Amino acid sequence: MSLNEIAFRPEDPAHDPAIEIINEEAFGPGRFARAAYRIREGGPHERALSFVALDGAAVIGSVRLTRVAAGGGRALLLGPLAVRPAYKNRGIGKKLVAIAVEAARRAGAGVVLLVGDAPYYGPLGFRQVPPGRLAMPRPVDPDRLLAAELRAGALAALSGAVMHADLAAAAAPASAREGEAEAAEPRVAAARR
Ligand SMILES: CC(C)(COP(=O)(O)OP(=O)(O)OC[C@H]1O[C@@H](n2cnc3c(N)ncnc32)[C@H](O)[C@@H]1OP(=O)(O)O)[C@@H](O)C(=O)NCCC(=O)NCCS
Repeated sequence: MSLNEIAFRPEDPAHDPAIEIINEEAFGPGRFARAAYRIREGGPHERALSFVALDGAAVIGSVRLTRVAAGGGRALLLGPLAVRPAYKNRGIGKKLVAIAVEAARRAGAGVVLLVGDAPYYGPLGFRQVPPGRLAMPRPVDPDRLLAAELRAGALAALSGAVMHADLAAAAAPASAREGEAEAAEPRVAAARR
């Protein structure tokens, strides 16, 4: 089985049970305590910006993106990323990341954030977030808080607590919400419709 026999497709609700099994297999029950998971609990992920790797009809890898906010800035949080053990080291994980980042770029996002290993994500365009700039809901090794800046200056617009964008929107005054929703992510919103 080589990489070009694997199909990469946008995620569909029918993939959910298989994705749950893959994430359980990759991260175990400890996944529920992870900082990124706590953020993702705040609302849905972006189905249109999330992708699966398929061997025939079988889902063998998954990556998801979730809209987040930090201070006045917006970003997409990448994860979980997981590939079934029997399919590892064939480039499937890196291809899933590249597809998700490209989808984020096309959707007009300025930053993709993640918590992960710099040696893996560095060649894919991720760099360490300046320590102290962002706060996750659980402690995270600063070396593992990484960002790919897709639009110059977008990372500098992020500061403070990272939370699901829906929670930030719910906490903001109505007047601010209207302005933000239009200015921040018009094409992500469009992708979800
Ligand atoms: C991490 C994971 C998604 C990689 O998927 P994959 O399809 O095997 O990755 P790729 O084939 O694209 O890349 C494999 C390469 O990355 C390296 N690699 C894998 N995990 C790595 C890590 N954590 N840090 C550094 N390098 C890593 C491999 O050694 C391999 O190197 P090589 O190309 O020099 O042989 C997969 O191993 C997995 O599901 N792991 C468990 C869940 C997890 O840790 N997810 C990431 C959370 S941030």
